[in-house]
Amino acid sequence: MERFVINGPCSLNGEVNISGAKNAAVAVLPAALVVNGISKIENVPDIKDVRVLLDILGKLGAKITKEDDNTVICDTREVDCWKAPYELVKSMRASYYLLGALIARFGRAEVSLPGGCDFGFRPIDQHIKGFEAMGAVVEIEHGIVKINASEIRGAQIYLDVVSVGATINLMLAAVKAKGQTIIENSAKEPHVVDVANFLNAMGANIRGAGTDVIKIKGVDHLNGGGTHSIIPDMIEAGTFMIAAAATGGDVVVKNIIPKHMESLTAKLIEMGVNVIEDEDFIRVIGKNEVKNVNIMTLPYPGFPTDLQPQITVLLNMAEGVSTITEGVWDSRFQYADELKRMGAKIKVEGRIAVIDGANILSGAPVKATDLRAGAAMVMAGLVAKGRTEVSNIKYIDRGYENFVNKLNMLGADISRVLKDD
Ligand code: EPU
Repeated sequence: MERFVINGPCSLNGEVNISGAKNAAVAVLPAALVVNGISKIENVPDIKDVRVLLDILGKLGAKITKEDDNTVICDTREVDCWKAPYELVKSMRASYYLLGALIARFGRAEVSLPGGCDFGFRPIDQHIKGFEAMGAVVEIEHGIVKINASEIRGAQIYLDVVSVGATINLMLAAVKAKGQTIIENSAKEPHVVDVANFLNAMGANIRGAGTDVIKIKGVDHLNGGGTHSIIPDMIEAGTFMIAAAATGGDVVVKNIIPKHMESLTAKLIEMGVNVIEDEDFIRVIGKNEVKNVNIMTLPYPGFPTDLQPQITVLLNMAEGVSTITEGVWDSRFQYADELKRMGAKIKVEGRIAVIDGANILSGAPVKATDLRAGAAMVMAGLVAKGRTEVSNIKYIDRGYENFVNKLNMLGADISRVLKDD
């Protein structure tokens, strides 16, 4: 099994280029299936989840070519299959986007229930409710979601919870529906807007993405022919911003949209970190001492749940007691036990973690319990004294492009090693 070995502590200094957003790419690529034509997609991150999706699209009949590491040309004219292969789909949470895309294209879809990161029960009832409102019949048999619709009709759908996945999936399904679909209480994340921009560039008619009411007027065809560039990854950017602060470094985080980072920027400033914003970069200058704060994760524009494990590492360094309340997932603190083994003082009760700060971490063997928790373990390794070995790094490979190289370029001492368990 591969692991990351980190020798700490270090201070990160220099510039880092942020890749295209994982959570936008894993939705835009399935969205290309709705198009009957050629789409050019730029700034696609070269990460495991994307490679798996490109394989799935190929198996469904799409012709995929790469102009370079991050530019994908997707010709979907000969796609003729609505069943996604289990072996590939099972490793990916975002495979549920194939449902919306395939029913838009064929009126039917068969996709196994999603896998991916494990932090508690991850239902898709809101996706299913929306598909049914559009006239589809949905059955779940032996872990496979089977959907059939003789006609997809526009519908008015109110989401009971703000769900990124349901918003995007229903947008996909509605693009070629008969009539207008209105999604109320929709998610406002930048990647929702990115998928709408992609679909509109290919011929769809979607308005309101980025607000809590999205209106989609069904069109007959999506002929493609357009080019779309994936937005920068706000979670990767946030990970590097927090790492700069935690290591007392000075890092310019480049190729980003600073507006997407506002909730994190505000918290870092509240903690006493020096944050300088410009048009497409943010410079973070860490301090020796940071102040304790309370944080609650919320859907965008709130503080992102996907930065919750990483900011915990920084809160561990603050003087005094901080709290984090997880407002999106039922259970996302599995990593706390790993951090405690490095010397952190964290008490978790339900959705709240209480962090008693000002601790010096010491290197230890730890495991990534999911993708973002894995990034947090790496960050803990960067600030800890001595050697940290992070196992289970398959999670980290799912979502961070060139993580090791980017960190080493900033002055970290991290390597990927192959080791028997
Ligand atoms: N929910 C339901 N029913 C549904 C769908 C969601 O109850 O049908 C609940 C969930 O249980 C959760 C909340 O609604 O409590 C929000 O879930 P959402 O659907 O927004 O999450 P998701 O679309 O499955 C995406 C990201 C996650 C990120 C969340 C929240 C992708 C591929 N994944 O998941 O990212 O945590 O939104 O922002 O876009 C990650 O990148 O590491 C990651 C886990």
